Amino acid sequence: MSEQRIAVVTGGGSGIGRATARRLAADGDLVVVADVNDAGAARVVDEIVAAGGDARAWHVDVAQEDSIRALAEGVTAAVGMPSVLVNSAGVLQNLSLLETFDLAEHDRVWAINYRGTYLCCRAFAETMAERGGGAIVNISSTSSVAAFPLLAYGPGKAAINQLTAILAAELGPRGVRVNAVIPGYVLTEQMRSRIDAGLRDPSVMHAQSALGCMVRPEDIADGIAFLCSPAARMVTGVALPIDAGWLASVTYNQYPGWPGGKR
Ligand SMILES: NC(=O)c1ccc[n+]([C@@H]2O[C@H](COP(=O)([O-])OP(=O)(O)OC[C@H]3O[C@@H](n4cnc5c(N)ncnc54)[C@H](O)[C@@H]3O)[C@@H](O)[C@H]2O)c1
Repeated sequence: MSEQRIAVVTGGGSGIGRATARRLAADGDLVVVADVNDAGAARVVDEIVAAGGDARAWHVDVAQEDSIRALAEGVTAAVGMPSVLVNSAGVLQNLSLLETFDLAEHDRVWAINYRGTYLCCRAFAETMAERGGGAIVNISSTSSVAAFPLLAYGPGKAAINQLTAILAAELGPRGVRVNAVIPGYVLTEQMRSRIDAGLRDPSVMHAQSALGCMVRPEDIADGIAFLCSPAARMVTGVALPIDAGWLASVTYNQYPGWPGGKR
């Protein structure tokens, strides 16, 4: 029988991280659900255990280097060396303009989304290399490649794509693969409440995607599970869009006068 993998999912208490933790546990991994929201992490662990899987909740604040180091050392001591890391901890930001965007908010978004991802990669990569290899998946966004009025979130996600490529090159010779996913509009609990509050219009998000729908958190989890699996053993350094064709459609749909477009 093959050894059980240990997978750490930051931001595992909600949304994409929750779906990923549940999927990896269903595939047989021991999953560490790491989140700043302890109640969320505990709830996801309960869901996994109720479904017959194996999981532990862990507190981490990815904005704090000490907290990340404690996670990496604590997990290794308690359950063993992880071979999978999914960096799903992240925050959104409000739409922003250059002149008026609050610098403290800019720095907070960078500290959690980019610096948190960077520090988690740093804390786990060495352990993974020591145990003979592993897989890291970072969570990017369509705002990493298309312009949204998100002055910290978008550039931070673009930096995650670049970090992914750099680390793939650096760590590949030591058996560690590093990839990213680029989710489109994902129907998470948070997105659902924004829709319910009238802040987002699902029909617009449907119309902007080639496949005419939003993506489910489970669709992102499927892609992440693939990137962590032996089926992706030759895949490293990619940022894989899982966006129902949003990136393909967004320019196509605006092509002037073209009858195939949706406008
Ligand atoms: N939902 C979407 O449409 C969408 C699209 C593109 C990219 N993403 C990205 O996917 C990732 C997950 O987002 P989501 O939509 O699942 O959001 P979510 O809010 O449902 O989940 C994010 C999780 O991260 C945790 N978190 C926040 N700050 C943290 C910190 N400092 N330390 C540890 N944990 C922290 C939260 O407690 C939460 O459980 C994020 O990086 C986000 O930018 C989401």
